[in-house]
Amino acid sequence: MPFCVGLTGGIGSGKSVASDMFAELGAGVVDTDEISRALTAPGGAAIAPIRESFGAEFVAADGGLERARMRSLVFGDANAKRKLEGILHPRIRERMRADVAAARQPYVIAVIPLLFETGAYLDLLQRVLVVDCEESEQARRASARSGLSAQEVRAIMAAQLPRTERLKRADDVLRNDAALPALRKQVARLHAQYLDLARKA
Ligand SMILES: Nc1ncnc2c1ncn2[C@@H]1O[C@H](COP(=O)(O)OP(=O)(O)OP(=O)(O)O)[C@@H](O)[C@H]1O
Ligand SMILES: [Mg+2]
Repeated sequence: MPFCVGLTGGIGSGKSVASDMFAELGAGVVDTDEISRALTAPGGAAIAPIRESFGAEFVAADGGLERARMRSLVFGDANAKRKLEGILHPRIRERMRADVAAARQPYVIAVIPLLFETGAYLDLLQRVLVVDCEESEQARRASARSGLSAQEVRAIMAAQLPRTERLKRADDVLRNDAALPALRKQVARLHAQYLDLARKA
């Protein structure tokens, strides 16, 4: 298995921009959110089991998941949410492991938003990197990007691990309070360090 760094952080903290920067420098990047989207896109491996468990009305004409319908179902129905996760999570984990194993880059950044919350994947990782910024900034960026209300973003943040707990478990931290060039500089420094660690591993 290649040297693998787990990248996590709260909603809107900057995981996607940071992982794009690592990719530009030549790291492999595997992202659980992207795997999840691919599994539920037309032709995705989760579509048949979703149709079987939830019914054909949850599959759109193009063969992808009816996202809005599923979102509103699982929002108020814990059993349905568990059932969907039962379909998705094992498939995401399997895909993540396969993609990391197949990576040809010197090391891999595995983007796992709920790394600490779920505890899955920790055995796959040599190191954990947390992207961190002030919660007010996090909320501002998350709602500007997603169109969620400030209240909805706060609810998601409340369901995630508190910032201080996340920081306690980090091996490395990317501070993302300033503008993007400041983030890029930190990413470059860590990239050099990870290349070095991967070489020695
Ligand atoms: N340092 C920064 N300065 C300005 N904008 C930023 C900065 N970092 C991130 N952003 C913007 O904030 C938004 C959230 O960033 P990003 O998508 O990388 O976060 P994320 O952690 O991947 O979020 P999610 O949990 O929703 O996947 C994006 O629109 C991004 O372009
Ligand atoms: Mg993201």
